[in-house]
Amino acid sequence: MDISVTSERIALSGEVKIPGDKSISHRAILCSALARSQSTLENLQKSEDVLNTLKAIQQLGIEVKQTDYRYEILGNGLNGLKKPKDSLYFGNSGTGIRLASGILAWQNFETELNGDSSLAKRPMKRISEPLISMGANIVLSEDNTPPIKISGNLNLSGISYEMPIASAQVKSAILFASLNAKGKTLITEPLSTRNHTELMFKQLGLDIEMNGNKITFNGQNEFEGIKFKVPGDFSSAAFLIVAALITPGSSILIKDVGLNSTRIALLEVLKSMNANIEINNKRKVGEEDIGDIAVSHSDLIACTVTSEVIPNLIDELPILFIASLFAEGDSKFLGVEELKYKESDRLFSMQEGLRNLGIETEYKDDIFLVEGRGAGYLLRDGQVDSFGDHRIAMSFIVAGLRAKKEIKINNTECIKTSYPEFIEQMSSLGAILNESR
Ligand code: S3P
Repeated sequence: MDISVTSERIALSGEVKIPGDKSISHRAILCSALARSQSTLENLQKSEDVLNTLKAIQQLGIEVKQTDYRYEILGNGLNGLKKPKDSLYFGNSGTGIRLASGILAWQNFETELNGDSSLAKRPMKRISEPLISMGANIVLSEDNTPPIKISGNLNLSGISYEMPIASAQVKSAILFASLNAKGKTLITEPLSTRNHTELMFKQLGLDIEMNGNKITFNGQNEFEGIKFKVPGDFSSAAFLIVAALITPGSSILIKDVGLNSTRIALLEVLKSMNANIEINNKRKVGEEDIGDIAVSHSDLIACTVTSEVIPNLIDELPILFIASLFAEGDSKFLGVEELKYKESDRLFSMQEGLRNLGIETEYKDDIFLVEGRGAGYLLRDGQVDSFGDHRIAMSFIVAGLRAKKEIKINNTECIKTSYPEFIEQMSSLGAILNESR
């Protein structure tokens, strides 16, 4: 599927409720599968990634019931999973495969985990190394990628681990493995990353402590199922935020968005760029902060993003590159190498896409540079490939709102992996998007 964005000069207006958060949805499903009683999950993200994780726990013998607006998951406790008949398929999802590996490390059976052609290229040594030192038996492909073959070991031990890279998926894989490991686990992060796993463990009454960049966790405690209300996905909202900021005359309201402090560095950066953004109705759902975000068109100025905050806006970098293109002045992004290991090599995908629209960017010494063109700039018409990456597809659809006439984005099916409602929600705000096959 392709999408053409017709850049008639239409301002975006109206309000949308953003669908559930991907990271929290995965974690809520996995925790529910291990709880001793039933959990209910509301506002779960209905993306392909999350549905694959749901299917994986069903293959592991967990009962899942779906009604119109919620899922009920009947966990059987920490030792309640059963050997699946087939290998487990996680589609496009690094989060699904890495977090599930943590749990499968302490079963009394063997499993094989795999995914689509993008997931098949993603680095897995970052999880197998710490899990193996906890006692897990894990074999990767020759290139240290999936399929991941795990032969469970019921006797994992806690670990003291200094993480070499800042990754919430690696941290969470270790925490999920520690759920049934003997002794204490101590994790030290080089930079703070999203803490949804820690907050969820706390909400479940587990023995976890967070202190700066250190996390201490004692596992081997059973826990009961609870009601999870999943906040809206800030990373999905980011596309709408930037769309409104760069489209003259726009003013939109995005409701019920997750505002966990480890996720929203984009807001701080955009504010430093003069963005007109207001947070209203701030409240808590479980241990997570949520609120409504009001955004209107702004004359942006350039930004410098330093490496310490990168993990807190890692998924928002592609759309932030687009925002910085329509800012006055040159923007710098330091320490962005991890973008190479996402659903596509996002530095390459963004550079290629922008090049097709007449924009050269620079990546040197781990610094990405974007020369801002200012709020009045219009992109040359052209075609851009998503490289099968949902966030690249959505970033260029937003960029297309500021084209001379029309930009076509090829291979947009991937949007379903995280935000199947994107086209409908953008259209409801006034964007003119035409799908073709
Ligand atoms: C995620 C962590 C991040 C992020 C991904 C979701 C998570 O990945 O990019 O979209 O849910 O823990 P890394 O841990 O690889 O940085």
